[in-house]
Amino acid sequence: MSETANIDWANLPFGYMPSDYNVRVYYRNGKWGEIEVSSSDTINIHMAATCLHYGQEAFEGLKAFRCPDGKVRVFRMEENAKRLQNTCRGVMMAELPTDIFCEMVKKVISLNTHLIPPYETGAALYVRPLLIGTGPQVGVRPADEYLCLMFVCPVGPYFKGGFNTNNYMIVREYDRAAPLGTGTFKVGGNYAASLRANHLAHERGYAGEFYLDAKEKKYIDECGAANFFGIKNNTYITPKSSSVLPSITNKTLQQLALDLGMKVECRPIPEEELATFEEAGGCGTAAVISPIGKIDDVAEGKSYVISKDGKPGPISTRLYNLYRGIQYGTEPDTHGWVTILDL
Ligand code: PLP
Ligand code: COI
Repeated sequence: MSETANIDWANLPFGYMPSDYNVRVYYRNGKWGEIEVSSSDTINIHMAATCLHYGQEAFEGLKAFRCPDGKVRVFRMEENAKRLQNTCRGVMMAELPTDIFCEMVKKVISLNTHLIPPYETGAALYVRPLLIGTGPQVGVRPADEYLCLMFVCPVGPYFKGGFNTNNYMIVREYDRAAPLGTGTFKVGGNYAASLRANHLAHERGYAGEFYLDAKEKKYIDECGAANFFGIKNNTYITPKSSSVLPSITNKTLQQLALDLGMKVECRPIPEEELATFEEAGGCGTAAVISPIGKIDDVAEGKSYVISKDGKPGPISTRLYNLYRGIQYGTEPDTHGWVTILDL
């Protein structure tokens, strides 16, 4: 068993850490095989594999938690299975059925229980599914063979400082995804396309980059590798766009906002509307909510200060605590979002 004595659970970064086992399933001759367990952290791959040449690569991310009642809870894994299938349709890869996906998630967690961070530390076990075209092609065509694997790593907060405000920079020089392009799919190419914008924002001292729609540069798209939401007049407002990844966290927050008696609007959000939000945040599995301090449109010389006191707002805080409570089993799971594992 890999060494856990030296893990500083309370100060884990959001990063890779070796684990004992990962799980893999291969698609060959038109069908998925049996789930295999591997103790190797490398894969042997054909040099002409389509994932290396033509971007047939999809990934997912979800979390499991050690809870105060001693059980392990996994959050909304069927949603990740469905999104992975949607991504596979988007780039012509073999779709992995939901039951195999969920079986793999449970298996990879149960094989690495010693890496699930203790409850008190606020850390979680991150599950990273990856699905790639492994069959060779030289012409631009989908592969005949695929591999789906899942590994885990214990992770701390995505942003140092956890649930706190961050500042973002609107980047106009680079787009992450085009309308009707691959933005709605979780393919590696979107992240490659984001690296320069992210680097630029970091160089200027911001936590991350902020994207407007690629066509008109008028509407809000995404907040780095997270969805955006704004709050005003007891309403949760989030962009409707054909280049944004359908975030499971965002979908969940919309339901929680409704449960709290708020209104929810999913519609194009013009940049200027940023000036009117009482609160705003990025949302995603890694951070749940990452409250926004301010957003600067550097090229246009504009600054939208969202948090006047530099602290997360009351509604974001309430949503965040409710969300984490459901994940930890301390708030009722009224929508059936959680899978309990007896590990
Ligand atoms: N947007 C992008 C580009 C992402 O990479 C992610 C992370 O997965 C999200 C949004 C948030 O999605 P989710 O809430 O499903 O983690
Ligand atoms: C998220 O989980 O919120 C992400 O953005 C995942 C990222 C590491 C790709």
